[in-house]
Amino acid sequence: MSLLSRRSALKGAAAMGGSVLLARSGLAEADLPTLRAAPASAQLAPAGYPATPVWAYAAEGAGIVPGPEIRLRAGERIRRRLVNALPQATAVHWHGIRIENSMDGAAPLTQAPVPPGAEFDYDFVVPDPGTYWYHSHNRSTEQVARGLAGPLIVEDREPWLGQSGAATRELVLVLDDWLLNGDATIVEDRWDDLHAASHAGRMGNTVTVNGSAYPELPIRPGERVRLRIINTATDRIMQLALPDLGAQVIALDGHPILPRTIETIVMAPAQRADVVIDGGQNRGARAGLMLDPGNGEWVEIASFVHAGEPVSSPDGDLRPLPAWNTLPPLDLSNPQRESLLMEGGAMRGMSEARFNGEVMGFRELVSNGMVWAFNGVANGMNAPMFRSPTGRTVYLEMTNRTAFAHAVHLHGHHFTIQSQSGSANRPGDVRDTVLIGAGESIQIAFVADNPGAWMIHCHMLSHQKSGMMGWFEVV
Ligand code: C2O
Ligand code: CU
Repeated sequence: MSLLSRRSALKGAAAMGGSVLLARSGLAEADLPTLRAAPASAQLAPAGYPATPVWAYAAEGAGIVPGPEIRLRAGERIRRRLVNALPQATAVHWHGIRIENSMDGAAPLTQAPVPPGAEFDYDFVVPDPGTYWYHSHNRSTEQVARGLAGPLIVEDREPWLGQSGAATRELVLVLDDWLLNGDATIVEDRWDDLHAASHAGRMGNTVTVNGSAYPELPIRPGERVRLRIINTATDRIMQLALPDLGAQVIALDGHPILPRTIETIVMAPAQRADVVIDGGQNRGARAGLMLDPGNGEWVEIASFVHAGEPVSSPDGDLRPLPAWNTLPPLDLSNPQRESLLMEGGAMRGMSEARFNGEVMGFRELVSNGMVWAFNGVANGMNAPMFRSPTGRTVYLEMTNRTAFAHAVHLHGHHFTIQSQSGSANRPGDVRDTVLIGAGESIQIAFVADNPGAWMIHCHMLSHQKSGMMGWFEVV
């Protein structure tokens, strides 16, 4: 708020004369809060292991994993000066925000990567409430795996916490998956691992919740808590369960849904879920946040420990979140029809695809680090996949002809699921990242209302790097 008032003070100063304006303007810019990306250290592995050298964001002081929480209200402005103290160029993407194109951080499409030692000012309005995150969007397979991700929370437009039937407290849970050596250092020599990339991606061996392995999270008996869960893993699809906590999902990718009771919830990389839990009645009891690592043997990755004074359980049904009312209505009478065909990877492969303007056989693609294609093009950055006039409804059919699931993310827009696919996607759900199982197809629709060049890619970052990348343009 002090920034805003300084701004209006400057407008007044401008009327008084140029020299005053210039001097003050320099000062005001120095006030921009920083987001510094730099090497740091974090205790990721359980106690007894050494700390892990990471790359991390900092608001001030040393960087932390996950990065510092950014929290604001819908309609407010984020202003941050990215200071790059990394040995590589970087850029920050504000995942899920229907943002102004030049602030999207999608290097190299919307901005040049910021070189080591340089800075970039991000300044944009956040239109919708919900649970989001920010992360590196340059060499992101490596940079996100090294720790460059943090939560971005946009508070509800009207008060929800503390209202009748709502939760009384919220807890942000940033889930991550790390591939660590025995000495807890990050495995660094496999950024170009095409074997992993052509399968399910870079799988870690250490899952953290808010940067710690197996943390204990206190909860009061009977307490109703809103969890804002964010999957920041580079590649791991997380199948989660919260047994004995009466878990109900109230938002997906930031967008409210009518409360839905769940046994398990599948979260692809980059997806978010707001889940309300009700604490049990017994002091000292424990309940787990469980993860299926892929073999059906559930692991408790965090535990809720009931402690403190009991609170009386809320009565009546869970209160839904206030609706957004900010998305333009779809016009499905005559939409622009587009399709996205996913091909490649281990087991199915593809006979050929275009890469850098040349048609190549699978072998040649592999020698260029490409194993996947969207619509027959691997890493299609030369031309947009499609163009839409601003305001047009786009109906996009996505077909996964590969042997692996993919999490397709559209930048700058949220879309509405039109068809059932798997158990995770229901028609009417609004998302920015959708998981499409092997052999499945799904239809989505959105109003292309945000002008600019927008990336569309698989958010399994190993897949993104090895071909599952493209863009569309709203003109
Ligand atoms: Cu979460 Cu293209 O990014
Ligand atoms: Cu993928």
